[in-house]
Amino acid sequence: MDIVLSGIRPTGNLHLGNYFGAVKNFVRMQEENKCFFFIADYHSLTTHPTPADLHGNVKQVLVEYLAAGLDPDKSTLYVQSDVPEIVELYLFLNMNAYLGELERVTTFKEKARKQPDNINAGLLTYPSLMAADILIHNAHKVPVGKDQEQHLEMARTFARRFNRMYKQEYFNIPQAYNFGAELVKIPGLDGSGKMGKSEGEGNAIFLIDDEKTIRKKVMKAVTDTGPTQPNQTKPEVIENLFSLLKVVSTPEVVNHFDEQYNNCSIRYGDLKKQLAEDMVAFTAPIRQKILDLAANEAYISKVARQGAEKARESASKTIREVREIIGFRHF
Ligand code: TRP
Repeated sequence: MDIVLSGIRPTGNLHLGNYFGAVKNFVRMQEENKCFFFIADYHSLTTHPTPADLHGNVKQVLVEYLAAGLDPDKSTLYVQSDVPEIVELYLFLNMNAYLGELERVTTFKEKARKQPDNINAGLLTYPSLMAADILIHNAHKVPVGKDQEQHLEMARTFARRFNRMYKQEYFNIPQAYNFGAELVKIPGLDGSGKMGKSEGEGNAIFLIDDEKTIRKKVMKAVTDTGPTQPNQTKPEVIENLFSLLKVVSTPEVVNHFDEQYNNCSIRYGDLKKQLAEDMVAFTAPIRQKILDLAANEAYISKVARQGAEKARESASKTIREVREIIGFRHF
């Protein structure tokens, strides 16, 4: 059975794009693999959050992923900072990580440009910490988006380097987990093509959005002036609305509006109203779960404690073996 691992940045709330994308795949992956999912709170220190923000963000992410379907009995779900063994491996990896290669990482160059007054060593060694996250459980596979491919490549480099240096195949060389064709792309509401929190305000529907907010955002969605010829091809903004309808509404509803579009009788206001109601119905139970979980401190604390315990079991075994390989001996 493959060991699959992924880190989750504790920033922002989950939107429908995340839900039908990464989260759905995580939920599926946990059925067939030994999965480790963790909240990367050490990583978030590179931007210096306040103590209250740090804790609040970690909790919110934990709650939302649980509500979206991560199962703490099937996967090992933990907070990175509960596993100090990661820091020790990070230190060992840093001893063989070179300034030149770290400086060449695209995300580092971008961050350095964006925060020129805070180019700290944590930012520079972000790839070593991420490699430590992965190698601490000797993961085989890491589901990563395009933006993280270079980081994964560094983890492979560090793993190979360690193996070569100590002349043994200790670390697995982690591979990208390929989702194949299963990835559903969820468009945003502003016609920009992709739902994302960094797009404009109102582009994304968050799982925690209440009914009023959802209705307001959907009613403001970008459309055009309507079809003028029967069966004409839909422009992208309209195709986007239909794509959204397809994920939250029944096939009958989709067909109904499709027919109306094709015979030019469609009224976008009606489509949006239906889309809003179906989105509300779809997200309401998840939102309720988020609210219930957020109020249940005892449960959240139990999940985090159990996750940390399972993660440390695996991590401490790695650290024990790595120390031995490097040559640390007790007197
Ligand atoms: N860098 C990842 C991101 O920005 C988060 C992350 C941290 C991660 N450690 C990881 C992802 C280990 C996969 C494996 O999204």
